[in-house]
Amino acid sequence: MEGVAKCGDCHMAHLANGEEENARELQGAPIGSKPLQPIKWEDHGPSLAGGPKGRWTDADVSKLLQTGLTARGRHLDAPMPEYRMNSSDADAVAAYIYSLPKPAKSAPGAEHSH
Ligand code: HEC
Repeated sequence: MEGVAKCGDCHMAHLANGEEENARELQGAPIGSKPLQPIKWEDHGPSLAGGPKGRWTDADVSKLLQTGLTARGRHLDAPMPEYRMNSSDADAVAAYIYSLPKPAKSAPGAEHSH
């Protein structure tokens, strides 16, 4: 999906050889640039695969992509852009994120069922 490709600039994991591996898609990636001014700036886009960690739901992600605000009305830190997607695009991106496999290591307390 074209819109989601931009997310990978910050949220895509890379292998050591620089090639992207589909299985690690959107599992978090280092961000290559920093602002000159010392503002609050996150170094890494967090993992999105399988849904962001914490209490996010797909509806929260969709809302974020339409309004730039979290479910609690909070702005995210730079450089996460504040998207103004329409609801069908936002729903599609949220559904895509939740369709990806969760990163194996980042699921403390996740059940080991199949
Ligand atoms: C320029 C870099 C950048 C791009 C492009 C970007 N993000 Fe982010 N994103 C971030 C950063 C950095 C954070 C962490 C912000 C924070 O913690 O306040 C973040 C946080 C998030 C979160 C909250 C996750 C969490 O665990 O708190 C979601 C959801 C998210 N991004 C979705 C997306 C989607 C979907 C796209 C593409 C449509 C996208 N982002 C594009 C940098 C980016």
